[in-house]
Amino acid sequence: MRIPFIAGNWKMYKTKKEALEFAESFKQLYKDTDIRAAICAPFTQLDTLVEAFRGTSIGVGAQNVHFEDEGAFTGEISVAMLKEIGVDYCIVGHSERRQYFAETDETVNLKLKKLLTESAIRPILCVGENLSQREAGKEKEVVSQQIEKDFAGLTSEQAEQIVIAYEPIWAIGTGKTASAEQAEEMCAFIRTIVEELYDEDTCDKVIIQYGGSVKPENATEIMNMDEIDGALVGGASLIPSKFMDIINF
Ligand code: PGA
Repeated sequence: MRIPFIAGNWKMYKTKKEALEFAESFKQLYKDTDIRAAICAPFTQLDTLVEAFRGTSIGVGAQNVHFEDEGAFTGEISVAMLKEIGVDYCIVGHSERRQYFAETDETVNLKLKKLLTESAIRPILCVGENLSQREAGKEKEVVSQQIEKDFAGLTSEQAEQIVIAYEPIWAIGTGKTASAEQAEEMCAFIRTIVEELYDEDTCDKVIIQYGGSVKPENATEIMNMDEIDGALVGGASLIPSKFMDIINF
């Protein structure tokens, strides 16, 4: 049985003070919930959130990591640094990092390997096509190539630890959600790719989220789809009550 998992991606939003205010009110709202949830925050807010959520089952995630142990990589953060803070998750390969920070499937693959071999931090791997690829009917081709390259060299034990977030780029921050059927079709397709690369057991276990303009108004429809196990939520994860309404889909 796959347990639903809703993660928030704060991107470059919230100061320490704002993160603390969020955590205090979110903790109250989340109290009796059994749906798994996490917040992926900017690096400087991670320790605040780990502390604030201690004793709850709310997870904390980073939004990026470097694949080297240490070195002259100005502005980067290592797996050991994230481990020390005690984060549970790390987003890898978000489309904004692929688009603005030259993230490639090769670096994504190195990051996944590093996280999975040297920590218990679970990667949230983002994949998805852009608008012109969707309009050209190439979404499956694009996503299957991403998955194949991103998972290269990983064992099935490692693969099943990865949360895959299908995020069509044209639906991120645009208010344009993929229809529940489009999202379901792609998540089901991703599961078949995992089965082809590994086996039925691995594909049954892997958690697949949909992301792209998820909000309280569309969460129920999306979350009720068979192959969608959760959501990666950007904008709507910034407000405790909105994020909670999504978790309570
Ligand atoms: P959005 O972002 O919910 O604001 O569209 C999703 C994401 O980028 O993970």
